[in-house]
Amino acid sequence: MVEQRLTKFAYQTLQQGRSLAGLAHKQISTKLMEFLDPEASPETEPMSTEMLTALQSSIKRLEEIDWEDAEQGFYPKTQLFDAPWLEWAARYPLIWLDMPSTWKRRRKKITRDLPNEINPEIYPDYYLQNFHHQTDGYLSEHSASLYDMQVEILFNGTADAMRRRIIAPLKNGLSSFNNRSEESLRILDVATGTGRALKQIHSAFSKAELIGLDLSRSYLKQASRNLYTREGNFAQLIRGNAENMPFSDESMQAVTCVFLLHELPRKARKNVLDECWRVLEPGGVFVLADSIQIADSPEFETVLENFHKVFHEPYYYDYINDNIEERLLTSRFDSIKSESHFMTRVWSANKPL
Ligand SMILES: C[S@@+](CC[C@H](N)C(=O)[O-])C[C@H]1O[C@@H](n2cnc3c(N)ncnc32)[C@H](O)[C@@H]1O
Repeated sequence: MVEQRLTKFAYQTLQQGRSLAGLAHKQISTKLMEFLDPEASPETEPMSTEMLTALQSSIKRLEEIDWEDAEQGFYPKTQLFDAPWLEWAARYPLIWLDMPSTWKRRRKKITRDLPNEINPEIYPDYYLQNFHHQTDGYLSEHSASLYDMQVEILFNGTADAMRRRIIAPLKNGLSSFNNRSEESLRILDVATGTGRALKQIHSAFSKAELIGLDLSRSYLKQASRNLYTREGNFAQLIRGNAENMPFSDESMQAVTCVFLLHELPRKARKNVLDECWRVLEPGGVFVLADSIQIADSPEFETVLENFHKVFHEPYYYDYINDNIEERLLTSRFDSIKSESHFMTRVWSANKPL
């Protein structure tokens, strides 16, 4: 009991620290930008005190659920503390050094400033952009090495807790395969990026076969480093387009997809959902996590509006107004459930038997 309380206290303290670090970073970097490059400052709507309080309460609820799910055994408690702290500390100065070029892209509205050596023919046109104004878009090792930290800062230290919300629906959704061994299950993480969600999935399904797909070779390289254990690499990482995946029909029992849909134009969003359905075995589960939307979180509309004013997110406005449930139905999924956790909405759906 004492040990349990102490662990919970340690988790809450860590989350508080992450949150403060994220807030402090954003405040100081915004002040610096206003001083050094004022024209790069985006015009945003001010947030009311009520909204800030609601955001704080929403973070608290997220932490409670994160703790409860660990208590219930959906994933080990060690997951709550998992992060490559030393690596992040070593790379953190690079985020500051990168800022002036980010400000310049924002000020000059440059959105396609990508490395010369890439072959644009192997990527869809919508992908060839500096999402979030980040240097090299998704197309360099430099970008991949900073990505996880940048997302943590953006979400005030809650990104991993939000990603973990896919685990409980994944476990519940896989119940139709309870008569099979875990070793026989194949779980695909679409747009796996640097593999943070895959790592969490591995902690919950240590024997299942895990596959991560992404368009960026550099991000997959970073994922390979992140997923390396003494026993080797526990996931297969494959470069490919989620709109046309290199997997046969009905070859997966579960598919997850975290923080991809808001970066896709409508047509690609539909293609990806259709592909997730195609590769799933009937009875399989699809768990999708992405930004909350205006319809489910009208109280945070200003936050959502500000997000795409501050960051280059060309499809975000369309995404927050899209009807994902209708899209899942159109792609032939059923048993659709959804819930919001701070800035993330999680949908789970089944491919009917
Ligand atoms: C915002 S990141 C999310 C990464 C990761 N899932 C996470 O939880 O942080 C979006 C990822 O989607 C990938 N991506 C974008 N469009 C894609 C596509 N059409 N096919 C495969 N991956 C894609 C990018 O390379 C990037 O790694």
